[in-house]
Amino acid sequence: MTEDLFDAASMYDEDYLHFFAAADGGGAPSHGPVVGTAYPGAAVAADLVWRLLELQPGMAVLDLCCGHGALANELAARGCRVTGLDSSAVFLERARADATAGSVEVDYVAGDMRALPRWDGRFDRVVNWTTAYGYFDDDGNRGVLDEIVRVLRAGGRMAMDLDNQTKFLASYTPSRVTARRADGDMLVDRHRLDPLTGRFEVERTVVRDGRTRTLRFLKRLFGFPELRDWCTAAGFTAVTAYGEDGEPLRADHNRMVVIAES
Ligand SMILES: C[S@@+](CC[C@H](N)C(=O)[O-])C[C@H]1O[C@@H](n2cnc3c(N)ncnc32)[C@H](O)[C@@H]1O
Repeated sequence: MTEDLFDAASMYDEDYLHFFAAADGGGAPSHGPVVGTAYPGAAVAADLVWRLLELQPGMAVLDLCCGHGALANELAARGCRVTGLDSSAVFLERARADATAGSVEVDYVAGDMRALPRWDGRFDRVVNWTTAYGYFDDDGNRGVLDEIVRVLRAGGRMAMDLDNQTKFLASYTPSRVTARRADGDMLVDRHRLDPLTGRFEVERTVVRDGRTRTLRFLKRLFGFPELRDWCTAAGFTAVTAYGEDGEPLRADHNRMVVIAES
């Protein structure tokens, strides 16, 4: 297994849920929480995935890096047989609690995307949502694609939701308040782009309840042609990309949703 480039456990923790998945909606991204309550982000994502992956009730779906389960629970509510895998115990606990509260069944599994269980050919579809890819060195990142191909049945499909690099770079700022809550808590990020590695590195200061802590994380930015070639090398065919509205990818889309067939 490749070396960790940052400590995912310190990034995807209870503070992250506080800012991005709080019951009051939290501070920022569009993905959100519990089935059956006011979490429109998950429903919007599920609509898009449903359409782009031609999902049907009964299909076996792996939500790889499922986080706190917002999308996994939503897809289960729509009739898919969903497995959610994530490395964060805190997120999985929240995902299971939300599934119970929403009366949906999801098989939540603790694991590492670089070394999936013996699930060869088990899934009709794999979703990997909200920039949950690109955390390792390039060998490690490519290895994750190999793992996805391995667990998909022949003719299965993957949907991967990432930043659209073109738009991301055009709106780059050296720092940003990423999330701000009414109670004064906030996340302040300092950014660094490394063009030699294609990595976007972040030093995040978490201000919560009057205390601060700093953590670091990174993600790999991908232009579509590069990721398409990686997908093809991993064994995928028919690799395409769409924006957040499900239209073919354009420079002004915020998101790049890569669809690939195994
Ligand atoms: C940006 S979050 C996205 C979560 C979820 N897909 C969503 O849409 O809300 C990235 C997720 O990847 C998980 N993660 C990080 N490293 C991982 C690893 N090596 N294996 C499995 N999951 C990992 C984190 O715990 C976190 O839940």
